[in-house]
Amino acid sequence: MFSLLRSRTSARLCSRLQTRRVGSSAEPPRPQRNVIGTFTPASAALFVSVGVGLVWYFRNEKAKLLEQREKERMSKSYGRPHVGGPFSLVNCSAPDKRFTHEDLVGKWSLIYFGFTNCPDICPAELDKVTAVLNEIGTTNSEIPLQPIFISVDPARDTPGTIQKYLVDFHPSFIGLVGDYQETKSVCKAYRVYFSTPSDADPKGDYLVDHSIFVYLMDPEGRFVEAFGQVAQKDEIVDKVRQYVLAMTRE
Ligand SMILES: *[C@@H]1O[C@H](CO)[C@@H](O)[C@H](O)[C@H]1NC(C)=O
Repeated sequence: MFSLLRSRTSARLCSRLQTRRVGSSAEPPRPQRNVIGTFTPASAALFVSVGVGLVWYFRNEKAKLLEQREKERMSKSYGRPHVGGPFSLVNCSAPDKRFTHEDLVGKWSLIYFGFTNCPDICPAELDKVTAVLNEIGTTNSEIPLQPIFISVDPARDTPGTIQKYLVDFHPSFIGLVGDYQETKSVCKAYRVYFSTPSDADPKGDYLVDHSIFVYLMDPEGRFVEAFGQVAQKDEIVDKVRQYVLAMTRE
């Protein structure tokens, strides 16, 4: 197969050379020795044009290669889903302070959206994040990992109730809450659906339907991966370690 291909290619090359020779001069092809031996104006011109052709060819190939690389780079960055973006919320442990997207910089973050009246899903997910943190450690790794809880129930979740709620989970949890508009905006940025109406009764007894994901953000505050409810602790630990390792190697 290979030799067949090769002979076909060389046959095609030969015929192309012949056509060119026939086309450029009517003389029968001279023996190879003479062509190399005599340096006529015609052969000089041929030499120059071949040289120019080669330079053009390699420049063209290089440009193609660069374009290909650029495309790959772009598809990589475009391949990253647009999750995350600017936000500004109240830092529940210091309610006079705002916590913004800029506070994600310099640390890996695991972000979970939920509400404190959530009967079982949120506690299970926050337990999972706590287990991940216990396994990885928040300070032992080279780059710290911060767990963040963002409330999707701004009508009932106050900084106080969130702080009290987070006591049951990892001590490094940062609770965040905003007003309705701020909550809506951060949820939109993170592609989180939540069902709390804007006029929800703060004393109401309602459940909030919301997307269940744990988001991993890198130390530049960029989205890395979303772990759904089915992702087990070990899987998250492995993935986080892989990403941290890959980034420190970069
Ligand atoms: C949030 O509050 C905690 C506790 O006071 C503090 O350690 C942390 O630096 C604050 N973060 C921001 C971004 O305000």
